Amino acid sequence: MKAPRTTPSLFARLLALVCSLGLVIVQAQVALAQAGNITVQVDKPGASIPKTLYGLFFEDINFGADGGLYPERVKNRSFEFPDPLMGWKQINPGDSKGAVYILDQGSVKEVPNSHYLRLKVETPGAGFGLVNEGFRGIGVAKDDEYTFSVRARRVDGAPAGLIVLLEDANGHVLGQTKISGLTPEWKKFTSTIRSTGTDTKARLSVLAEGRGTLDLDLISLYPKDTWQNRENGLRSDLVKLLKEMKPGFLRFPGGCIVEGSHLERRYQWKTTIGDLDDRSLLINRWNYEFRHRPAPDYYQSFGLGFYGYFQLSEDIGAEPLPILNCGMACQFNTGELVPLEQLDHYIQDAIDLIEFANAPVTTDWGRRRAAMGHPAPFNLKMIGIGNEQWGPQYVERYEIFARVLKQKYPNVALITSAGPAPDGDRFDFLWAKMRELKADLIDEHYYMAPKWFRDNAGRYDNYPRTGPKVFAGEYAAQSVGIASPDNRNNWECALSEAAFITGLDRNADVVQMSSYAPLFGHLEAWQWTPNMIWFDNLRSYGTPNYYVQKLFSVNRGTRILPVLLNGSATNGQGELFTSASLDEESGEVIIKVVNTASSTKEVRINLAGAKTVGKNGKAFVLESSDLKAENSLDNPTKVAPVEGPLVIPSGEFVFTLAPQSFTVMRIPVK
Ligand code: AHR
Repeated sequence: MKAPRTTPSLFARLLALVCSLGLVIVQAQVALAQAGNITVQVDKPGASIPKTLYGLFFEDINFGADGGLYPERVKNRSFEFPDPLMGWKQINPGDSKGAVYILDQGSVKEVPNSHYLRLKVETPGAGFGLVNEGFRGIGVAKDDEYTFSVRARRVDGAPAGLIVLLEDANGHVLGQTKISGLTPEWKKFTSTIRSTGTDTKARLSVLAEGRGTLDLDLISLYPKDTWQNRENGLRSDLVKLLKEMKPGFLRFPGGCIVEGSHLERRYQWKTTIGDLDDRSLLINRWNYEFRHRPAPDYYQSFGLGFYGYFQLSEDIGAEPLPILNCGMACQFNTGELVPLEQLDHYIQDAIDLIEFANAPVTTDWGRRRAAMGHPAPFNLKMIGIGNEQWGPQYVERYEIFARVLKQKYPNVALITSAGPAPDGDRFDFLWAKMRELKADLIDEHYYMAPKWFRDNAGRYDNYPRTGPKVFAGEYAAQSVGIASPDNRNNWECALSEAAFITGLDRNADVVQMSSYAPLFGHLEAWQWTPNMIWFDNLRSYGTPNYYVQKLFSVNRGTRILPVLLNGSATNGQGELFTSASLDEESGEVIIKVVNTASSTKEVRINLAGAKTVGKNGKAFVLESSDLKAENSLDNPTKVAPVEGPLVIPSGEFVFTLAPQSFTVMRIPVK
């Protein structure tokens, strides 16, 4: 690996050469004029940097849950989509004959997941049944094992059982199994299928064997390889990417999905826990939100629900941050409001969630959590009241929530909205109100042009140091325009975000949390772009934006160090952006520098006040000469950090920044 370029301080070089080499002096003076001077005040550590500074925003958008993090391979496994056979197709190989019916027990009494499938086979042939298309195909990998499961019963006649075939896109059988022993009572059957091949577009056929009638429900094909090998667990490659970021928190479940386009379609956490059978399906708001990216087959099964969410937060070492509906539907849609006098139900949901997460096992909610496998509390410390709300109607509702919650749980921080934009009337109104109400943290969103990010690196330098703290809760540079389908996760966007984030880093006493949004995008099923991580049915990759986030997060440090750029505390002068911190655990100074220029830049770094500076540091450099560069499934690390040794000659040295680069240096100090 190539070592990043450091040289002794220019002053030291000048002094050594001053009497003998006039030419060198001239060149050195030219270099000095070009260099930026970065002074890190190592002996003046400032505020502590919260562990939550860099976190994650999860929303079920772009098939982020079903078809993504939740790796069920069968779409519409319980026949609950409004078109109950969506995702399924009747097939009759070998001239078999029969009929398919959807039965609905919900017509008699209200039950979640009330539909099931009836297969009536008249001529068995090679089996009569259905094939499932999966989520834009079914992803299977050679030699991997999948658990097939189904709820089934025999109704009449003598159906011998089921033949289950896993086939690739061309119809070649990759694996199969048989289910037998059907009884008149509903029973769950499971079997393992090992795939002999790899395909992202495989399909699953379920065929009835023999003549007669049988009922089927909850037909599932689930990979055995899940995160921590859990049953009903999460997709391991995606969780790994998240964990490697060492995120400080995990926001869930969004996003606009919290609000719903209508109140009755809002996210309700209680319907997402317990038996899979009890989790009622909901249409995903991103199913119909964008006319230019319709996704008629996008529903929420809640296979990944709130228990799985708390467990995931714990697994990746992130503080959970649930966001709850505050009695308002999305204001970009209907903006329906719950009358103030009927808000109790919503507040009770928040109370019950805190109890579910934190209460001891001697309580009802604690017992329910323990029954799911987690007797220890999840130690929930914060929740968000509403997502991207605005206007006086939000303030009224927030006030009622805050009055009740703060009295009952004074230690649970409440996150409030600053509306959908980083400035303007709505933003100013909410900030003023929330300041008056002494809110804990205010959630700012910015989906802006790359230039905005570079221009706003100093945004927080002059924010008031008292009052509510900032949660930069959703942001991403939009290469074309907000929510444009042509936006790209390119290097220009990532580099501009890096420039901006140096400003979060420097102001971690005010900005206590931040997260890029959205997190996930399925390459064939997305509605919104850009996204931090892209995936198909088998593979995934981090974008350049992912690597920017990761570098900041894993190099957070524990105390802010004051840093001067060319003698001034103003960040983002010209094309240089910087921040610094001290990592008290490792005894290192961490310096981050972004060079947005298309040429190299020499910076003279002065570790002011450091008693001893270790010689052997490290540098991580993320760079590309092409601002349009992107990562992809086939080239997932085209723009990815390169780590190398950093030899530090003294407390003052010159470092050559690569063009269009983001560099993190870790330097041992005392
Ligand atoms: O991140 C996508 C959407 O952008 C979120 O759902 C919403 O909060 C914001 O408008």
